[in-house]
Amino acid sequence: MGSLMTENEMDSETKEPILYVNGVRRVLPDGLAHLTLLEYLRDIGLTGTKLGCGEGGCGACTVMVSYFDQNSKKCVHLAINACLAPLYSLEGMHIITVEGVGNRRYGLHPIQESLAQSHGSQCGFCTPGFIMSMYALLRSSQKPPTKEDIEENLAGNLCRCTGYRPIVDAFRVFARTNDALYTNESSGLSNSEFVCPSTGKPCSCGLNIKDDKKTTCNGDIMKPISYNAIDGAAYTDKELIFPPELLLRKLTNLCLNGSNGLKWYRPLKLQHVLDIKARYPDAKLVVGNTEVGIETRLKNFHYPVLIHVAHVPELNQIIIKDDGLEIGAAVKLSEIVKVLKTVSDQRAPFQTSSCRSILEQLKWFAGAQIRNVASIGGNICTASPISDLNPLWMATRAKFQISDCKGNIRTCAAEKFFLGYRKVDLARIISGWFVMRPLFTGRCSYSVSANETKAFLMGKHWKKDVLQGALRILEKDILLKENAPGGMVEFRKSLILSFFFKFFLWVCHQMDGLASFEDKVPKSHLSAIKAFHHPSVIGSQDYDIVKRGSAVGAPEVHLSSRLQVTGEAEYTDDVPMPPNSLHAALILSKKPHARIIAIDDVAAKSSPGFAGIFFAKNVPGDRWVGPIVADEELFASEIVTCVGQVIGVVVADTHENAKHAARKVHVQYEELPAVLSINDAIKSNSFHPNTERCLTKGDVDLCFLSGQCDKIIEGDVRVGGQEHFYLEPNITLIWTIDGGNEVHMISSTQAPQKHQKYVSHVLGLLMSKVVCKTKRIGGGFGGKETRSAFFAAVAAIPSYLLNRPVKLTLDRDIDMMVTGQRHSFLGKYKVGFTNDGKVLALDLEIFNNGGNSLDLSLPVLERAMFHSDNVYEIPNIRIKGKVCFTNFPSNTAFRGFGGPQEGSVLHYGQQIEHSTLERLWNELKTSCDFLGARKEVEEFNLNNRWKKRGIAIIPTKFGISFTAKFMNQAGALVQVYTDGTVLVTHGGVEMGQGLHTKVAQVAASCFDIPLSSVFISETSTDKVPNASPTAASASSDIYGAAVLDACQQIKARMEPMASKHSFGSFAELANACYMERIDLSAHGFYKTPDIGFDWETGKGVPFRYFTYGAAFAEVEIDTLTGDFHTRRADVIFDLGFSLNPAIDVGQIEGAFVQGLGWVALEELKWGDAAHKWVPPGCLYTCGPGTYKIPSINDVPFKFSVSLLKDAPNDKAIHSSKAVGEPPFFLASAVFFAIKDAIIAARAETNVTDWFPLDNPATPERIRMACIDEFTKPFIDSDYRPKLSV
Ligand SMILES: Cc1cc2nc3c(=O)[nH]c(=O)nc-3n(C[C@H](O)[C@H](O)[C@H](O)COP(=O)(O)OP(=O)(O)OC[C@H]3O[C@@H](n4cnc5c(N)ncnc54)[C@H](O)[C@@H]3O)c2cc1C
Ligand code: FES
Ligand code: FES
Repeated sequence: MGSLMTENEMDSETKEPILYVNGVRRVLPDGLAHLTLLEYLRDIGLTGTKLGCGEGGCGACTVMVSYFDQNSKKCVHLAINACLAPLYSLEGMHIITVEGVGNRRYGLHPIQESLAQSHGSQCGFCTPGFIMSMYALLRSSQKPPTKEDIEENLAGNLCRCTGYRPIVDAFRVFARTNDALYTNESSGLSNSEFVCPSTGKPCSCGLNIKDDKKTTCNGDIMKPISYNAIDGAAYTDKELIFPPELLLRKLTNLCLNGSNGLKWYRPLKLQHVLDIKARYPDAKLVVGNTEVGIETRLKNFHYPVLIHVAHVPELNQIIIKDDGLEIGAAVKLSEIVKVLKTVSDQRAPFQTSSCRSILEQLKWFAGAQIRNVASIGGNICTASPISDLNPLWMATRAKFQISDCKGNIRTCAAEKFFLGYRKVDLARIISGWFVMRPLFTGRCSYSVSANETKAFLMGKHWKKDVLQGALRILEKDILLKENAPGGMVEFRKSLILSFFFKFFLWVCHQMDGLASFEDKVPKSHLSAIKAFHHPSVIGSQDYDIVKRGSAVGAPEVHLSSRLQVTGEAEYTDDVPMPPNSLHAALILSKKPHARIIAIDDVAAKSSPGFAGIFFAKNVPGDRWVGPIVADEELFASEIVTCVGQVIGVVVADTHENAKHAARKVHVQYEELPAVLSINDAIKSNSFHPNTERCLTKGDVDLCFLSGQCDKIIEGDVRVGGQEHFYLEPNITLIWTIDGGNEVHMISSTQAPQKHQKYVSHVLGLLMSKVVCKTKRIGGGFGGKETRSAFFAAVAAIPSYLLNRPVKLTLDRDIDMMVTGQRHSFLGKYKVGFTNDGKVLALDLEIFNNGGNSLDLSLPVLERAMFHSDNVYEIPNIRIKGKVCFTNFPSNTAFRGFGGPQEGSVLHYGQQIEHSTLERLWNELKTSCDFLGARKEVEEFNLNNRWKKRGIAIIPTKFGISFTAKFMNQAGALVQVYTDGTVLVTHGGVEMGQGLHTKVAQVAASCFDIPLSSVFISETSTDKVPNASPTAASASSDIYGAAVLDACQQIKARMEPMASKHSFGSFAELANACYMERIDLSAHGFYKTPDIGFDWETGKGVPFRYFTYGAAFAEVEIDTLTGDFHTRRADVIFDLGFSLNPAIDVGQIEGAFVQGLGWVALEELKWGDAAHKWVPPGCLYTCGPGTYKIPSINDVPFKFSVSLLKDAPNDKAIHSSKAVGEPPFFLASAVFFAIKDAIIAARAETNVTDWFPLDNPATPERIRMACIDEFTKPFIDSDYRPKLSV
């Protein structure tokens, strides 16, 4: 039993805890137990590792940890999430961050080089995380990984910009199988051929350049891998080795402290764990901290004593026995995968079916970074109702060994272990016995067995009537109440029957083999159990390169790409805090609509590190703000109108202390009735003032009455909102100068000018005294156009009043909760058409959910109305629109700006000119072989009862211009220096879309100098005033034109000098001009001509031109689960003569995948009538754990993008076209392909009538639309899954 360790004994062993970071030894001081590794790294200046979510869901914080395993005597290299790793849990280990992989000064690592060259970074915020995941994989692989390994390892990294294809391509080259391909001597390649990063094979993608230069694929960067058991794989001699000190060093017990009295113990024996637990009965055991970290950081749980048991040998044992496995509770999931694979390989299949099932399940368990740290015991003891593993332990009759503090051990069957919601019976778990048993289900607030069904099945023959009997009982065995947490009750019930059916078929197949399976059920039913194989993503890109001058038209890589892949690119949070800085945290409303009765801030004021608290009464200027109408209070004074509305702000010495203090403010409310949906708003006539709009063409009523229409249908369509999920959350750093006479800020925003305006407004300062700068942002997508300005204004108050720098960073959950989203829409339509499909009349009424302030909801609605016809010519149209006032946070711009929610003269009077739509449509229809694809799909559907495929082809037309005419203006400042370099500043913001790269190309071509001679440092309101937000896709058009104007002015001034002498270089010319006192700086300006729209008449020309495109998609759905995959997507776009086709392809791919999220994956769940299990007005889906943006697994398997050739656009700079938003809508091809597949599924049960499918078509909607015997017990024929709209 051993003796209790005294506090002193423990403390005596805490001498010099250390950590190596990028080869540098660092002593870890005591007092940091509250810190995560990420916080520590960023505090010591290693800001390449990013904070994207703080909950292990995005991978932006990925680093590699290496330690020496004393058992295997080998080094282990693992990718982990630094945001969840407690600092002291890494004691004695080596951390490599992106800075330790390579940098521009000493050379990039091949991974970094490849990603940069392959256009794999746009905003770059996710990029270091991808580099580190790939780096850890290579470093730990003795053999080059397979393509599948690579994609599997990247599943824990999210990217919101690129659509993943270029990242997969960049890394695919490391999965080579044939080294000969990579060396010029042996490859037999001619000089004109390259190993293409896109395919990993020789190609000639550098050859389709019409002009002089070829692009270079970076095939020569790959060198053979050498592998050393200690250091891992090495590509270059610059690779950081494993620190020799750590090879010899023995781990010691640790007892360290953190803030708020936190104690951190690292015992190295089980007995010590029990001793500490006896001393501190409430002490929390922790291994990977992937659950405890979420509880403490996001749910504000406080555990004063943490016992890190990851290094306790007894808890790390894996014993393989004849009749099962004994697994220590601290064993990591990635370790278990290895063991189960070994056991499965070594034993007969009938002995290891459980092992294989667990392996299969673990494939879908989180990302590699989580699996590398998360323990089996942690998963079991969390007792999550949605645990992926606990039902398997029950099904396999696992047993858990549980020890009390005295070391008494008892054994408990898994089935008896889970007592209730996150409640278990516990202290230690060391064994699991895997024996197969064929029934399990998880459908409650904790994992339980379906006992009645189990009893029925016992002793029965596995025949069809058993299936029917079991289903009947199982249906009643399901105990899900109407408002069960998690919702989707009908779906979950149907799933249980569906899974049982799958299970039934699987057992038939396993027991008797295919032959007798066919006797029992038709062969087409095999589709229910066919394992799904995810092939590696393949992309192709086809475009012409039309060079204009030295740079325009070339597929140059993003100018920041090399900075991004090395982590050297600075974002707002990476800027060092000035001395005396404070952190701000928001005091937020907890009610959707209420009167504020009282605010008690006494406790906050005595909170550690507190420096100030501010409310409405403290705002020195005007506290009413808004981009169009000033209808939003900076701090709610009397009434709150949504959950998450800002009531006040607290500042303190650290981010955590500020949050603690804010949480201590107690607000007393008197609740008022809340409007929590569009339908509520319509019923209670709750609309934003003056937002009613109408557009008409022809006579809709007459057409309906005329009898011309063969069919007239009416209905409604509901489209859910979408979270921007930019990887970098909102952040502002703001400070005063000259005692508050001036205010400066650095912000992550698409609209620095709006920040300047809002801040000057609330402070009562002149705009000329307020400056906002933005170097780059980690994604915006419309979400940082207006909402970011509001939060900058909030941060300005304490900064100004205290005369101290203040940083306001929104944590991911707060950002998602309070900054607004894409509007949800409700459309009520009546449409008349002929039997051959011609639409004759459309009467449409659309409502968007504006939330509690108007923000940009009116222009969003207007654009939706403009785009309601998509590309179709409808002779009679009436479109009415209204913006609903609801008690949700104000919704805002999002890529597409209303366009997606939704040849001749359009319904608002604009004449279509130079349409390329027909060309695009015909080219796509031919290239995708639509008719052939249709035949193949029909064939597949005929032979597969439970899997269905569908296809769709969709065109789009997107109007380019801000619909508010005055915003279509742009300014730029161009400065030529005597060394021949050019500094460009313009009003647009670089948010990953490559704007600065394209604009620099324009400047380079104008002066006929290399692109490398042009530099764009940042966007700043003191260089270019009154800039419109970087939005509406028009930025490269208007800023490119403004820069061109400035360059041409300078060129004209240089011209006399240039024509008089011959200069060897542009530098010589610039210097000569300087000597002649010629002004080498110019302000350029551009305003978009010939546009204007009058809402009084409903007629005009709102758009300069249209960008056209079309997409084809093929999907496969599992009709029993609603799971789907996009097998293929082909997109063709008309981008005129592209300024940079590689960047434009990146925009198309990124927008398409983001659109795919909108149409099929991303569902916002609000506390409303549809989701009564969520508190009213609250957002349930406020992090990557609950809100699923597309991951690498969701990318179309085959993804082809082509740009229309020979189609110059004379309405924009260098005959190009705008690209940012237009492709987004094309992902609706996936939506309609899903609907096509569902139609095929419904036909199997003879349901052939039209049906509504709301957006997004999530697995729930897909499954429930595929009506069959497993859904029917739970739904009526008009059932529609719930959606927050
Ligand atoms: C991004 C992300 C993705 C995830 N994905 C999935 C998923 O796909 N499927 C799924 O099922 N889960 C998922 N989880 C939850 C995850 O399984 C658990 O978080 C993980 O297995 C817990 O292991 P841990 O070592 O990190 O636990 P910790 O956070 O260290 O501990 C969790 C709990 O277990 C207790 N505990 C740990 N060890 C012992 C022990 N030996 N004896 C007694 N109590 C102990 C702790 O006290 C604590 O209460 C995910 C979590 C995150 C953050
Ligand atoms: S910040 Fe760590 S996973 Fe998102
Ligand atoms: S480049 Fe990946 S999130 Fe922006």
